[in-house]
Amino acid sequence: MNFRRDTVKTYLITGGAGFIGSNYVSRLIKRGDRVIVFDNLSRDGSRRNVEWLREQYGHDSFQLVIDDVRKPEKLTMLANEADVMVHLAAQVAVTTSVTHPRDDFEVNALGTFNALEAARASKKKPVFLYASTNKVYGGMEDVKVRETATRYEYVDYPQGISEEMPLDFHSPYGCSKGCGDQYVRDYARIYGVKTVVFRQSCIYGPRQFGVEDQGWVAWFVIAAAAGRKMTIYGDGKQVRDLLFVDDLLDAYDLAVANIKTAAGKVYNVGGGSENVLSVWEEFAPILEKHVGHPLHVERSNWRPGDQRIYVSDIRKAREELGWSPKINVEDGIQKLQDWVRNNIHLFQ
Ligand SMILES: NC(=O)c1ccc[n+]([C@@H]2O[C@H](COP(=O)([O-])OP(=O)(O)OC[C@H]3O[C@@H](n4cnc5c(N)ncnc54)[C@H](O)[C@@H]3O)[C@@H](O)[C@H]2O)c1
Repeated sequence: MNFRRDTVKTYLITGGAGFIGSNYVSRLIKRGDRVIVFDNLSRDGSRRNVEWLREQYGHDSFQLVIDDVRKPEKLTMLANEADVMVHLAAQVAVTTSVTHPRDDFEVNALGTFNALEAARASKKKPVFLYASTNKVYGGMEDVKVRETATRYEYVDYPQGISEEMPLDFHSPYGCSKGCGDQYVRDYARIYGVKTVVFRQSCIYGPRQFGVEDQGWVAWFVIAAAAGRKMTIYGDGKQVRDLLFVDDLLDAYDLAVANIKTAAGKVYNVGGGSENVLSVWEEFAPILEKHVGHPLHVERSNWRPGDQRIYVSDIRKAREELGWSPKINVEDGIQKLQDWVRNNIHLFQ
């Protein structure tokens, strides 16, 4: 997607060396914006993403600041240069949040507070985009679900879950990201900071160093290609809507371009009802076609809080921002598989 701009913008991206961040940095450099990446490089793969960006665009194509969102000083200083802050840095795994709840709280809740305070203090009054999660809606145990041969389906929500669904933070990750979500929304009301919350569903694509605990689409593609052991928790019929990373970045760009409409708003962004897949029963045939042989998986019990189905209702983002996903699941997974195949040495 091309956006006509009169001037170069400076983007400060926390977590800019991660999966979503490095894809955004690449897009912004390509179109001539100035980028500051703020990342502590704690995620496996983040250093590789930095190396890749430097190989692609040159060592000085962006500014890298290795620091932690738990510390406000440098963040506050850098926010003074930013037209847009994109807050992606996070502790991203539910499982880790359960074993290390304090770390999770400090990175996600306090880190988001620090980023918001930096935006509030900035003379440039930056737009502030926040990567929230569908986990803020919790397990939705009351939502009626039916089972088919390969998947679960909503009985009463054919278009998926809208922003009107009551919040129900569940797991330390749900609580810490949800805390950030509500702070970000409120800073628009109380202080007039131009914030936008994106409640993201499952995002996938190249440069995603998926592991069993986070980034499951990439994890299965990597594990299948590299011959690693795979475990399915639950019956494999769990359904998710999948959003290719470029489509998510289009939503970010549209929010910045339409900030008068988007400021203070919350948007559910995911593949929506047209881009759904069950995590094993429907994904396995796609993977097996790719690797050319049947895959062996181990089966294990359901993980606590695992939703049988989550599909985003994306009509609000479509109506207000003119956004819709362009890349279907089949094409998106092919792009991810191509990236894994071309970089298989990283995973062996
Ligand atoms: N990928 C998804 O499917 C998905 C879905 C919903 C929400 N999200 C949210 O989107 C954001 C980005 O996710 P991602 O998939 O790119 O994750 P990622 O792990 O690839 O990227 C996160 C980045 O943040 C950095 N980071 C972690 N702790 C930090 C700290 N204390 N200070 C500074 N940097 C730190 C990591 O090194 C990493 O580069 C996260 O906030 C995540 O909660 C992602």
